[in-house]
Amino acid sequence: MEETLKPTLKNGHIDMPVPDGIDLRAEIARMKKEKNAVILAHYYTTAEVQEIADYTGDSLGLSQQAAKTDADIIVFAGVHFMAETAKVLSPNKKVLIPDLATSCSLADSVNEKSLAEFIKKYPNHTVISYVNTTAEVKALTDIVVTSSNAVKIVSQLPKDEPIIFGPDRNLGNYVKKVTGRENMVIWDGGCHVHDHFDANSLAELKKQHPSAKVLAHPECNESILAQADVIGATSALLKASYELPETEFIVATEPGIFYEMTKRSPNKTFIPVPNEHGHPLNVCVNMKRNSLKKIYLTLKYEFPEVDLPEELSRKAKVCIERMMAMS
Ligand code: 13P
Ligand code: SF4
Repeated sequence: MEETLKPTLKNGHIDMPVPDGIDLRAEIARMKKEKNAVILAHYYTTAEVQEIADYTGDSLGLSQQAAKTDADIIVFAGVHFMAETAKVLSPNKKVLIPDLATSCSLADSVNEKSLAEFIKKYPNHTVISYVNTTAEVKALTDIVVTSSNAVKIVSQLPKDEPIIFGPDRNLGNYVKKVTGRENMVIWDGGCHVHDHFDANSLAELKKQHPSAKVLAHPECNESILAQADVIGATSALLKASYELPETEFIVATEPGIFYEMTKRSPNKTFIPVPNEHGHPLNVCVNMKRNSLKKIYLTLKYEFPEVDLPEELSRKAKVCIERMMAMS
């Protein structure tokens, strides 16, 4: 039998030592060039990963980059559904993921079966799903949204068109409030990071820093959003941080974004909001599973790869393309 060249995976990633003294950054740069590969990284990954990425962005920006890149290989440093979306948009490219175990608590809160049952309960509703979903869920979806364009897309639908919105209840309630729609049924899912910032700690931070602006992601719950000056997707919060004249910001989103905020505004101060357990840095453990070593090994062995059945990919693509056209 032919020997496989692919190393085995342990806990979702290649687990083997790298040669002593190797310069991971230089090796990654060399292999990227040699293989015509591009590294896309979400703003929530670690600073060392964002530093070596060709493009860093939020979920909408990363999907747009995945759709338009002319690289042969995409290394996606984010979470699994994001790499899957890149594969749906670029089926002929090789999409590599440094760690297959980069799940997302929000995407995990709904599956194909539970959504199909929900849809049966609410017939004739347009199904809108947040991009934080599996390809199977997207295949049952009419239009995908991200936190950047959810309000814009829902606003374009006729007022009397009933909607199923999922899986993030906080984003759903926020969109419902901003658009003034009553006919939205919202799935009861949440993100293990954004849904758990501590409102009392935020109130305290506001007292300690009276001139600071509060920036919050719409996946945060109402007790946080009610105290925010700016509510928006990660890219919108980043933009506010460098465009607003204030020099202090209290930030209720995943603290990986501080890397880019500080890079763009080195003289400004960014203050994290603790979570309900008193932890000062409320991080997404899934995003932090990406590392230089895993990216190096993934690029070297071109493994693990994200692959999807053709039929599933084709179905999931329709609702993502509708989003692209409407955003
Ligand atoms: P963005 O659309 O802001 O990237 O959000 C994605 C995400 O996973 C937030 O938790
Ligand atoms: Fe998913 Fe929350 Fe992590 Fe975003 S921050 S990837 S929604 S678990």
